[in-house]
Amino acid sequence: MIKHLLSASQLSKEDIMAVLDTARALASLTRVGVRKLPTLRGKTLALLFYEPSTRTRFSFELAAKRLSADVVSFQASGSSVAKGESLKDTARTIQAMGVDAIVLRHPSVGAPWLLASCVEASVINAGDGTHEHPTQALLDLYTMRERFGRLEGLEVAIVGDVLRSRVARSLALALKTVGANPTFVGPPTLLPARPEALGAGVSFSLDEVLPRADVVYLLRIQRERMGGAYLPGELEYSRFWGLGPEHLEMMRPEAVVMHPGPMNRGVEISWEVAESPRSLVEAEVAAGVAVRMALLYLMLGGEALHR
Ligand code: CP
Repeated sequence: MIKHLLSASQLSKEDIMAVLDTARALASLTRVGVRKLPTLRGKTLALLFYEPSTRTRFSFELAAKRLSADVVSFQASGSSVAKGESLKDTARTIQAMGVDAIVLRHPSVGAPWLLASCVEASVINAGDGTHEHPTQALLDLYTMRERFGRLEGLEVAIVGDVLRSRVARSLALALKTVGANPTFVGPPTLLPARPEALGAGVSFSLDEVLPRADVVYLLRIQRERMGGAYLPGELEYSRFWGLGPEHLEMMRPEAVVMHPGPMNRGVEISWEVAESPRSLVEAEVAAGVAVRMALLYLMLGGEALHR
């Protein structure tokens, strides 16, 4: 297994399947009541979060603790970053305390690469600006495979603000690697100029893609990263691109809706769709713990488990 996980593009199909199979085996242990394994006893994980997080942060912490690793947690506010300490110096300080892996979320694109170049520990990218979020892609692939029993050939419509979405970037790369077919869907101002570089097709029409999608993957409108007139307004967006109950009627009976969270209900997803049985949002969150357990286990020296 790779030492650092910085981008979904680093992962081969075999790497992805090893993570998903191991996650499945670990999830089945949790289901039968095995809440703690001794696998990573003596290892230490540092969580460095320079941006807010609920799902990623808690699931990494829970994953590490379920494998008996120690966890140290850092948040930019309330740390020496407030006194001007750089990412590099912060990382070296944490490294000097003897950590084995660092999970980094940072607003700057490329920050995990900088970190990996200056520490001995394994580095996991938990989201760098608008660039990548590879562990979200892994948990989404896990969720899709659990639902459909396969990934190859799945039609996945990734809808919304693709341009600023690190989730979309990593997900498209990982889907392509396993033989699925991602399509970016949205208004031209929210789609990247070269979708083919991420292995994705493109469509400007929700009505055109809904009848053939297995998965409709909705992206969050990133209010905090807009900083420009990419959208006429949220109401306008919701009217033309938000998924409402009428859209469920247009989808294949077995098709599902996914969203990485946090959701803007009433903007990209209606309350009815969010609460519908076709929404896998909670399954994605649950998968986050098992997939991050598998990743930590494999990256810190474990052998792949089989499903
Ligand atoms: N999906 C995701 O990354 O959620 P958080 O920002 O809550 O970690």
